[in-house]
Amino acid sequence: MSKRSIPISLPVTGEEEWLATKEPLMTGWLTSGPKVREFEQNFAERHRVKHAMAVTSATTALHLAVVALDIKPGDEVIVPAFTWVSTANIVLYQGAKVVFVDINPRTFNIDPEDLKKRITSKTKAIIPVHLFGLCADMDAIKKISGNIPLIEDGACASGSGYKGVPAGGLGTLGCFSFHPRKSITTGEGGMVTTNDDKLAEVIKSLRNHGASISEEERHHGPKPYILPNFNLMGYNYRMTDLQGSVGVVQLRKLDTFIKERNIWATYYKNELKDISWLRLPNFGSDYQHGWQSFVTMVDESKAPLNRNGIMEKLQQAGISTRPGTHAVHMLDYYKNKFDLKSDDFPGARDANNFSMAIPLHNRMTEEDYQYVVQVIKSL
Ligand SMILES: Cc1ncc(COP(=O)(O)O)c(C=O)c1O
Repeated sequence: MSKRSIPISLPVTGEEEWLATKEPLMTGWLTSGPKVREFEQNFAERHRVKHAMAVTSATTALHLAVVALDIKPGDEVIVPAFTWVSTANIVLYQGAKVVFVDINPRTFNIDPEDLKKRITSKTKAIIPVHLFGLCADMDAIKKISGNIPLIEDGACASGSGYKGVPAGGLGTLGCFSFHPRKSITTGEGGMVTTNDDKLAEVIKSLRNHGASISEEERHHGPKPYILPNFNLMGYNYRMTDLQGSVGVVQLRKLDTFIKERNIWATYYKNELKDISWLRLPNFGSDYQHGWQSFVTMVDESKAPLNRNGIMEKLQQAGISTRPGTHAVHMLDYYKNKFDLKSDDFPGARDANNFSMAIPLHNRMTEEDYQYVVQVIKSL
């Protein structure tokens, strides 16, 4: 089989998305308006939640979640040590304390046993991350968390589920990303979900500078010349209607994307199962995996090379790989500021050092998957 060039991820966007942007461009309503509303309604329906509120990224979604929950200096928020850095940064934005919890490197998600040890009287929120599209064990977390609000970081989990319930409705608030590495994209973009009417109202205001009504409501209302009142200090985290129009098209394809990803994840699992040095994703029937990424672990005691050596060999063969994500407590800013050691969170440390995502996305062909398997087997 001849050498190929397979990126780690590539969004499926094309003429349909391009044509969808025509309407906002022609009408001239470019900021949050009818297209964002349509995207929000469809997203809420698909994720079976009462409210979905579009914003500019998962990071700003998470930020609004902690602002809406009134997280402030003196409060503690529990965050898994293995996640994208912004899951932790948004806690620091509020001047609150990030309390890391270790993960189970078999699932890459919060280890409930470790969570028990991290809760104090100051814990004001827990952020379970549904990493790579696999939901955290929400029932185990809820048993421990009691009344503490749960913010789902579902950046990777559009369309994922846990015990038949879609991500986004498993906690107090849910946050999603539409960055191009996610299953569906709006270029950049995010969504906050909740079933709580009051939190929804606050988030709608916060994303629009703290205004009491949206720009669309004002412009189409009886007195467009009266500026709204601002009773909160908010932000400009509004999604544009150009993005909303792309989101509407992408969301229609989400279930097909996930179905295809499931087929190829199963293919990888069957084809790679006898490679002694490669640990494959493994989870029970309670989880409806969204397969944002297919993340393996390299057992360096059995592997022909160390993890980075294997990634280099695959890169040379035209196959892009990446570490799953990073351990935030090992990043310089966190390590130095909070005097953290790699060994403080051994599960996150191992995931940081040995995880390896191999390409799985909706632009790959059968031959691409066969090629990845063939090259890995030949190492
Ligand atoms: C777990 C997790 N949280 C948050 C984010 C941030 O998402 P965004 O780029 O939309 O801000 C990411 C992005 O990779 C992520 O993987």
